Amino acid sequence: MAVLVTGGAGYIGSHMVLALRDRDEQVVVLDNLSTGFREALAPGAILIEGDVGDRALVLALIKKHGIEAIIHFAAKIVVPDSVADPLGYYLNNTVKTREMIAAAVEGGVGQMIFSSTAAVYGNPQATPVAEDAALMPLSPYGTSKMMSEMMLRDAAFAHPLRYVVLRYFNVAGADPGGRSGQSTPNATHLIKVAVQTALGMRPSMQVFGDDYATPDGTCVRDYIHVSDLIGAHAAALAHLRHGGASDVFNCGYGHGYSVLEVIDAVKRLSGVDFKVDMAPPRAGDPASIIADAARIRHKLAWMPEHNSLDTIVRSALAWERQLLNRQS
Ligand code: UFG
Repeated sequence: MAVLVTGGAGYIGSHMVLALRDRDEQVVVLDNLSTGFREALAPGAILIEGDVGDRALVLALIKKHGIEAIIHFAAKIVVPDSVADPLGYYLNNTVKTREMIAAAVEGGVGQMIFSSTAAVYGNPQATPVAEDAALMPLSPYGTSKMMSEMMLRDAAFAHPLRYVVLRYFNVAGADPGGRSGQSTPNATHLIKVAVQTALGMRPSMQVFGDDYATPDGTCVRDYIHVSDLIGAHAAALAHLRHGGASDVFNCGYGHGYSVLEVIDAVKRLSGVDFKVDMAPPRAGDPASIIADAARIRHKLAWMPEHNSLDTIVRSALAWERQLLNRQS
């Protein structure tokens, strides 16, 4: 029995594949390498270069490899890009996920883990936000994921399929062993951008908006270390394998940091006082979003091990230095 990991050559997916291969699981990766890297793949994982929207291909993989569970990471993930190209995001994230679920149903795959996002909540009315809060995404990205959650719920009701939806808060950091990390050259995520600026790869960086209703006026996010997020997936897979019911879980630590606090941590830990400019707010950004993570802690016994902004930033710095060394 094997696990199919879509997007397994990407940032988060590659960490999942490492964790599965560390346990000697059989892993098949489906990735179109649009943002992923062949080199990111753990030894022993089978890479199939192709598209999750290719239903015939997914079905063929399910049959050939005896796929027991699918972990579906493959998606486009940049909030402002989704505002500029909503139809592209709905095609890539929603329509293709529909095809992938259809292939799973047809192929008799009984278990699925789906990468969703805190962006489904939009600007939550209460924070920390729990899973039963109203879903009011502010961006097509968030809506594309919310629609996929709904398709999965309805398909699981109609067919013998159980699922876990994981709503990621802000994922950052890198494998503590230095085997993988965020490698996208033009990444837009705050910690990656700040780390690249500290290492001189960018002349300066911008803070998007300093007039939000938050303590220092900049946006607040719940940053979670990628290895703890992978721990949540491992717990979700064990839950499904033991016959657990379909469920939805937030993945965050339950406390937030502002953009300025993150930048300060990067400056302190890198020892570089880089240039930071104030800029207008970015479209689709909620002011503050922090996870209520009680459900995953209780139901899946999830125990984060890297719950510290400094640990996250240190691992992101180490990974970026490694990427720089590879280039030189
Ligand atoms: N930011 C800056 N300057 C930058 C980059 C980011 O000020 O150069 C700010 C953003 O405006 C935002 C915060 O830093 O306020 C975090 O932005 P990111 O781009 O790092 O992350 P987002 O919060 O926009 O989105 C991320 C993931 C989504 C996920 C969401 C959940 O990309 O998949 O977190 O909150 F849904």
